[in-house]
This record gives sequence, structure tokens and C-alpha cells, in this order.
Amino acid sequence: KAKLAVFASGTGSNYDAIIEAINKGTLDAEVTLLVCDRPKARVVEKAKRNGTPSFVFDPKQYAKKEMFESKIVEILKEAEIDLVILAGYMRLIGKTLLQPFEGKIINIHPSLLPSFPGLDAIGQAFNAGVKVSGVTVHYVDAGMDTGKIIAQDIVNITDEMTREELQNEIQKVEHKLYPETIQKLISRGESS
Ligand code: GAR
Repeated sequence: KAKLAVFASGTGSNYDAIIEAINKGTLDAEVTLLVCDRPKARVVEKAKRNGTPSFVFDPKQYAKKEMFESKIVEILKEAEIDLVILAGYMRLIGKTLLQPFEGKIINIHPSLLPSFPGLDAIGQAFNAGVKVSGVTVHYVDAGMDTGKIIAQDIVNITDEMTREELQNEIQKVEHKLYPETIQKLISRGESS
């Protein structure tokens, strides 16, 4: 069974969706580990409730990114993680973590990349007045939301839609697309 490490910084609705897909049997994997860089994030509570082991850290306690990333690498190797799933992990992945796991780290981003990379992609798309946005799953490289695209799905933006409604639609699509895409990667053997 593929061993996933989910990295998150916030609410963890994508973490939930992955757990749900596993419980339903549509995703043949296990969430072996949660990595979270915000001790107060809701996802930390969720992991506790589900019994997902977690590594929760405060980046401010480390002098340099290399230091917490080498700790993370150690933990990922110890847990024999096959795939690293970024799910609202609001931090760029540095060389220390990228090099040993290149091609094994994927991210979900709430826009149709390469449009609207970076922070608040939903607000960016909404303010730009585009009529179609969506969700992208991509491999992580050293850039900001620049890695090779694996899957995308669209959300139509109607004239009546509010920003909140757009966010809800985007999240619905994320919660379906992410588990499906992870399952495809696993069946293609790209997780080992
Ligand atoms: C998701 O919408 C995800 O696409 C986005 O953060 C949210 C996390 O929600 N990620 C990015 O913007 C990355 N650049 P969640 O904590 O409820 O899964």
C-alpha cells in the first residue's frame, strides 16, 4: 500500500478528502504522516482525532529552512514515504527536501496554472474577472507553482457568483480531483 505524507498548514479539508477516499476504498493508500508548520492549525486536531501520526513544527524555532527540512527528510525516510502530498502547505519546498524526493512531491493549487500562481489564487482569479478557473495538481519543483502539470479541472464563474461561492466550488473540485489523481499516480506505479 502506498504510504502518503500529507503536508498542510491550515484547515485540512483536502486532508479530510484524502482520508475519506481511503475509507471509501477509492484510494488505495494510507496517510502515514501529517507534516504541519503551524502548531495551531485545525488540521493538527483532525490528524489527532484520526490517529494519523504527525510532525508539527514552528519554523521560527529553526535558524534556517535547511534545518527543519533535513529533519523532515529524516522522518519521511524513516516512515518509508512513497509520495509527499502538499495540501495547503503554504511554504516553498527548498533544495534539502526537494532533492531526495524529486518527482515524489505533488501539490494542489486553486487555479488553472500557469494562471494565478502564488497566494490567494482564488481572489486573484475572481478579481481578474475570468469566466473559467479551476484546480491544478502538479509536481513540485524549485519554483512557485511551476512544476509539470498532472491534472486539471475547471470551474465556471458566473456573473452572479460571489468570491465565497467561487471558493466553495473550487474546494468541491479539489476534494474530488486530488484523491483521484493520487490514485492514478499510484496505479501507474509512480509512487514507488
Ligand atoms: C486549498 O484550496 C489549496 O488548493 C490551497 O490552499 C487550500 C488549503 O485548504 N493551496 C494553495 O493555495 C497553494 N499555493 P485545506 O487546508 O482546506 O485543504
